[in-house]
Amino acid sequence: MARGCFITMEGLDGSGKTTQLKRLAAALEAEGHTVVTLRQPGSTALGDRIRGLLLDSRSESSLGPIAPLAELALMFADRAQAIAQIIEPALAAGHIVLCDRYTDSSEAYQGGGRQLGSETVLALHRAVCGGLQPDLTLLLLPPLATSLRRARSRNHRDQRMRGTDENRFERESDEFYRRIYQQYQAIALREPERVVPVTHDGSIEEIQQILREIVSQRISSIDSASTASVQGA
Ligand code: TYD
Repeated sequence: MARGCFITMEGLDGSGKTTQLKRLAAALEAEGHTVVTLRQPGSTALGDRIRGLLLDSRSESSLGPIAPLAELALMFADRAQAIAQIIEPALAAGHIVLCDRYTDSSEAYQGGGRQLGSETVLALHRAVCGGLQPDLTLLLLPPLATSLRRARSRNHRDQRMRGTDENRFERESDEFYRRIYQQYQAIALREPERVVPVTHDGSIEEIQQILREIVSQRISSIDSASTASVQGA
């Protein structure tokens, strides 16, 4: 069986990524694909525990401030578990893996936002992920002001409605998010083959249409490359 396709979604908090990912998964399933979705941090039992530690702003009061390198290492511990338990088995079975955030988030948030630098993050990626790279990364990068506004209003709404407090990152300053935004732009420039930025600030439906076109083109080019290599073998 041909190896599956690994697609990641990236963007700032409030970029609309999670809504788009759910719709994209439903559309691909309707076309007959088997789609495995996950989010980072999280999606495994270990990952959900790590997510709780990392994202709950109350954890700082019980654990004390989390050191930036500890935060980075926890992100990669989560990722290692997700690769072993979910991503690699799904790819080996020929499925489409749709992952909400991956190493680009660590490079943008810890490398850029927390200023640990890209090299540290990429060295960990090589060691921990064995260089497992997405076949395609959809980077939702509407104007920074739009993302900031959405992230802040979403956070207030979640706290009011559900009493959840996953806002440790969202309490950060605008300067922190500006560095993340710039790091994402730098990643897209460095790896234009893999990373496709969507900068259009349109409706959910308009963006979904753009994403579906990008994904179907990539899936058909992977399919024709694997057919050619089987024929050439
Ligand atoms: P989440 O609620 O999933 O945010 P969103 O819905 O916007 O994706 O929270 C994930 C948070 O964790 C988000 O603020 C980004 C951060 N994060 C990192 O800082 N580094 C990482 O490697 C990953 C995967 C996430």
